[in-house]
Amino acid sequence: MLYPEQVIEEVRLRNDIIEVVSGYVKLERKGRSYWGLCPFHSEKTPSFHVEPNKQFFYCFGCNKGGSVIQFIMNIENLEFVDALKLLADRAGIALPESEDPKERERARRRKKIIELNRLAARFFFSSLAGDNGLEARNYLYRRGLSDKTIRKFGLGYSPAGWDELTRMLLENKYPESLLLESGLSVRSKSGELIDRFRGRIMFPIFNIRGNIIGFGGRVLDGSMPKYMNSPDTPVYNKSRELYGLNYARTSSSKRLLIVEGYMDVISLHQAGIDFAVASLGTALTKMQGWILKKYSEEVIIAYDSDAAGRAATLRGLEILEEAGCNVRVLIMPEGKDPDEYVRNNGPEKFKNLIDRAISLLDYKIMVRRNMHNLDTIEDKLKLLNGIADILSEHDNPIERELYAKDYAQKYGISYESLQEEVNKRMSRKNRAGGYSASVRDRRGRTLAAQISEDSDIRYSELEHMLLVILCQENRFFNLISENYGLESYKDKKAGEIARKLYRKLEENNSCVLAELVSDMDPGSASYLVRLSQTKGEIKEPEKAIRQILNKLAILKLEDQQKQTIERIKNEQDGEVRQQLGLEFSIRAERIAELKKMI
Ligand code: GTP
Ligand code: MN
Repeated sequence: MLYPEQVIEEVRLRNDIIEVVSGYVKLERKGRSYWGLCPFHSEKTPSFHVEPNKQFFYCFGCNKGGSVIQFIMNIENLEFVDALKLLADRAGIALPESEDPKERERARRRKKIIELNRLAARFFFSSLAGDNGLEARNYLYRRGLSDKTIRKFGLGYSPAGWDELTRMLLENKYPESLLLESGLSVRSKSGELIDRFRGRIMFPIFNIRGNIIGFGGRVLDGSMPKYMNSPDTPVYNKSRELYGLNYARTSSSKRLLIVEGYMDVISLHQAGIDFAVASLGTALTKMQGWILKKYSEEVIIAYDSDAAGRAATLRGLEILEEAGCNVRVLIMPEGKDPDEYVRNNGPEKFKNLIDRAISLLDYKIMVRRNMHNLDTIEDKLKLLNGIADILSEHDNPIERELYAKDYAQKYGISYESLQEEVNKRMSRKNRAGGYSASVRDRRGRTLAAQISEDSDIRYSELEHMLLVILCQENRFFNLISENYGLESYKDKKAGEIARKLYRKLEENNSCVLAELVSDMDPGSASYLVRLSQTKGEIKEPEKAIRQILNKLAILKLEDQQKQTIERIKNEQDGEVRQQLGLEFSIRAERIAELKKMI
């Protein structure tokens, strides 16, 4: 492989497939996915679709599919490496060791900016420790931060003079252009370079590799603006970073807690809640959603409880949900932020809030509930309709029913009417988008029919299917790897994919289908995506996995039966034949048992 897997994954993550595909195909949103006329074969009704939360595309007409990388390979007719370059370029990522001189120059400048940032952070840190930093130091102590925490987060102070950092950097022979590009200096009206950050507490922003990519700077008093942040630079794009992720991703917790501010993250980490990250003062982006998903099994959102915070929470929730995160909402007591709360009440109380965090659905309903005061019948009707709207957006039918019962009781509305309203909306929705109903493969066979074909194809399909489901449901890794280890794979290709997937899951507990297929040839990628599509949404993954494992076990036993029959035919010794016959009948019973379980 020419590029390390992390680089390929970064390129994939930083190119939203919807945005990229939209450059070539007119897409229309239907429910959770986007549809359009397939660019790879000619058609009049759309069978090409893109799934934003899974980040892959698939055409039901020509069966092409894959991640954003295969899309570019197919549509631009490029080799893998060139498709990767195009997308890296689009996202402003410098690929390592490129032969292209322009790219090399860009990579060199990125390295220089990171070097400059490191120097600046050291400068800020020592000025915090020096005489001029006394006031800033006291400010941080007043806010409860220890020296250890200050060191851990590399906090500093930018002196109040006009150009102290700028002068130091120029003296060290860094060119003006680089100082400007890094965002550390700005050009004053008189044409001189001056410091961007003056008289502020400095928060270095680290990426996950531990490089400093930018800064936030806070005033010590109530003056405005309270924070000043680095502008976007070749190494920093605020819609793509999460403050604190460099530490949070190594936490033993499988959760990530998302808060609003620098101080919240730092305070929480100091209190031992080491899985907090912040979205750097901007609304959460899709990109951040995917990153959160990649590094956690559950995301808990802890924004302020004021109106602005609530609006941000709802928006953030949509984004996180679209990115496929399991989300819960932590309800902050009125007027508090996580920093204050943990400082005043301690980590245990804060952990209680985490445990009591509510589901996305409950949160949406709660916000909706607070819009009405329920004194009049009209209000109750509005609430009922609002709840029906929210419930009908929810995919899981069992949960829908349970929640409906719960809400009906809680808010004193009729369960039957609520259910009826939900059903009305559901049938309307089903009529609207029926593209993917009862999908079959190219030859019109259902999966069951496909499975009863000859055994090599069956091994191959079942094994690939197992891998596809594992990508969608990483949590069943143990079940699958224990029952079907790498040595069990009969199909060579499936075996190779399994090796890669098992390794990824052992190393960082997560791998989605789009990631797995990213460096495959378009044909293999299409095949896997097709499998994931023909099966549709898997409602009961564990059951599906057990069925496949069963079918594979049956196949293996049947193979052994065939061999035994051959041996019986050729065996002269009567005793051995009897023994083989016994083996045969025991296995036949086992097969019958397994078949009953399917
Ligand atoms: P404290 O007020 O010191 O507790 O800081 P905080 O980190 O809790 O900040 P707050 O909750 O007010 O804001 C959340 C985040 O929004 C901050 O961490 C900043 O990233 C960002 N932010 C807040 N105020 C400003 C501002 O005036 N300008 C910019 N660019 N960003 C801001
Ligand atoms: Mn705060």
